[in-house]
Amino acid sequence: MPRKTVVIGLVGSSLDAGVGDKRWTRWRPSVAICQQTEFRVDRYELLISGTSQSLGAQVAADIVAVSPETEVHSHALALADPWDFSEVYAALDDFAEAYTWRANEDYYLHITTGTHVVQICLFLLCETRAMPGVLLQASPTRTPRDGTPRDAVGRIDVIDLELAKFDRLSARFRARQARGASLLKQGIATRNAAFNAMIEELEHVASKSRDPLLLTGETGTGKTALCARVHELKRARQHLAGELVAINCATLRGDLAMSVLFGHAKGAYTGAAEARTGLLRKADKGLVFLDEIGELGLDEQAMLLSAIEDKRFYPVGSDKQVTSEFQLVAGTNRDLATAVRAGKFREDLLARISLWTFHLPALRERPEDLAPNLEYELERISAELGTLVSFAKPARDAFLRFAETAPWRANFRDFNAAIRRMATLADGGRIDAAAVRAEIARLERAHRASADDDHLGAVLGSKINTLDRFDRVQLADVVAVCATAASLSAAGRELFAHSLEGRTTRNDADRLRKYLARFGLEFDALRRDTQVR
Ligand SMILES: Nc1ncnc2c1ncn2[C@@H]1O[C@H](COP(=O)(O)OP(=O)(O)O)[C@@H](O)[C@H]1O
Ligand SMILES: [Mg+2]
Repeated sequence: MPRKTVVIGLVGSSLDAGVGDKRWTRWRPSVAICQQTEFRVDRYELLISGTSQSLGAQVAADIVAVSPETEVHSHALALADPWDFSEVYAALDDFAEAYTWRANEDYYLHITTGTHVVQICLFLLCETRAMPGVLLQASPTRTPRDGTPRDAVGRIDVIDLELAKFDRLSARFRARQARGASLLKQGIATRNAAFNAMIEELEHVASKSRDPLLLTGETGTGKTALCARVHELKRARQHLAGELVAINCATLRGDLAMSVLFGHAKGAYTGAAEARTGLLRKADKGLVFLDEIGELGLDEQAMLLSAIEDKRFYPVGSDKQVTSEFQLVAGTNRDLATAVRAGKFREDLLARISLWTFHLPALRERPEDLAPNLEYELERISAELGTLVSFAKPARDAFLRFAETAPWRANFRDFNAAIRRMATLADGGRIDAAAVRAEIARLERAHRASADDDHLGAVLGSKINTLDRFDRVQLADVVAVCATAASLSAAGRELFAHSLEGRTTRNDADRLRKYLARFGLEFDALRRDTQVR
């Protein structure tokens, strides 16, 4: 048996109306559908609302007149108010429920007639497959300028939501996603597969979710910059209206930390002459970026967790809760799971913020992106310096060759600084081979010096940045000795070898212990931390 074509549609009280012979010159959508030469209608399910019964009968008769092969079934639809959404939806849904849908019939849901409410309901029923068909639209052919009568037959268009979704619309979605991803990448045409996949996933999540995001990666991999792009993307897409408020948790210390984050009431403590809003409230309906979240104290972590979950919290010294709907983006270059095991980070907070974790690969893991980033940085600096800076070809090749094997410990911070130096020093905007050689020598020197800081970094974490250079140099050597010594006493003996001569008491271990304590360090723990590496 051949498939049958079935149209389901409502009689339009004004569009389908018309009296006398003149009605044949008018475009009446329900009748016009059955006058199409390329579209044979086997059956027409004519839905007729209460007040249109006589019009319905006329339309049914006219359909048969223009298209004898069409069987017309009329259905009275109890619609007191065709503008009432729930009433119309219920009436159409009841029809769909009672109707016998057959596998060998193709259904066309006619949406030209009826109120907009009827059209919306048909769309929804089609979209949800409660009415398994495609949408059918009839339209008049345009009235020519010369005023000749409008063609009563017009034309029809089939709107297949499934196809529209998967073809035209999905192409649009893809283009939109690509624009979002490009924004997140600052327009840099990166080629590294892992980085691009991370960005694409972030684009998805950022455009759908308000859950916390966690950005992990070494220093300088672009966490702060990426968070700013996420904010920009969400603003552009109207997902949020508020500000981006960013803070590095390593700068939050002691009593002030609570008040900086959550605000305080007037007179909350000595010196609190004025109330303070706090960053989380400032970011209401916006984004909070907490960089180095691992540095946050345990009390602040507990408050933060409840602020994320309840969107409410108490400012310091206040008994009135305040609300703030902020989205949290956290950054870390530490392994927070390790911090949890060490009792320095709350497990429940980690669980809450790590739902969406995005890892930013180090620059040395993305060698294919060095060239596009080089171009980007050069353009940026050119704009800043007001002169066009470029590389001589061999100089560029030499620099990229070196860049592929360089450690770039501070990632973009180091990489961009190198380009900035070469661009600034370049005579006449041209970076030549000699300039590249000089820069490479400089980078290598800096690398050797920072290797000494390695052990120190392992035991001090980001506290290393708070040390005076004076202490840093000394402490780096002390830590290097401790890392390899057999015991505290052995390290003490080695460090104080000269003052040992001529002394009778042996208090080197004690002296070393006290020295380490000044920096909050302890020999056994230090040994553990340096061993891990
Ligand atoms: N994709 C990138 N391309 C070029 N430079 C970048 C990129 N991402 C970040 N930067 C630059 O590198 C430096 C460090 O970035 P930042 O976002 O602060 O890193 P992090 O927060 O991970 O330490 C900044 O000067 C920033 O402008
Ligand atoms: Mg940062």
